[in-house]
Amino acid sequence: MPYQLKINGKTTTVDVPADMPLLWVLRDVLDLKGTKFGCGVAQCGACMVHVAGTATRSCILPVSAVGASPITTIEGLAPDASHPLQRAWQELDVSQCGYCQPGQLMSAAALLVRTPKPTDADIDAAMDGNICRCTTYLRIRQAIHHAAGNSAPPATPMPKGSKGAL
Ligand code: FES
Ligand code: FES
Repeated sequence: MPYQLKINGKTTTVDVPADMPLLWVLRDVLDLKGTKFGCGVAQCGACMVHVAGTATRSCILPVSAVGASPITTIEGLAPDASHPLQRAWQELDVSQCGYCQPGQLMSAAALLVRTPKPTDADIDAAMDGNICRCTTYLRIRQAIHHAAGNSAPPATPMPKGSKGAL
């Protein structure tokens, strides 16, 4: 069945089954491979995109549920990778293997839109759904503060027992 999707500012039509997850549409039909497949069951955040500005796991969102909501993927965050978060990620060398990072960036970008000056607690809450097997959590938090222009962010340890504790 044809669906008209608004992705990264462009309208495109895809002819796919109603229950195909948006992630499959992005990667396999539209060749937008920046959004990653991790778990496929809403547990890792690798597939995070923005749907109407909200960070959303595309692995569990059927294409039929998208409707007219605009979608932004990592490719559309800033076409020349000049988003303040992308620059901060580079300056602070956040990535290790990199696999989780598009999803991390999309969650962080949604956070900064609704909370331009986030605290450590804001960041930890917003990023809670994004897993990084390389445990880059502390650098992610620092980079978000850096992008937000937060001066001298407090070096709060990651919550005890959290996935980010090193
Ligand atoms: S692939 Fe979607 S949350 Fe893991
Ligand atoms: S950088 Fe390797 S999984 Fe996050």
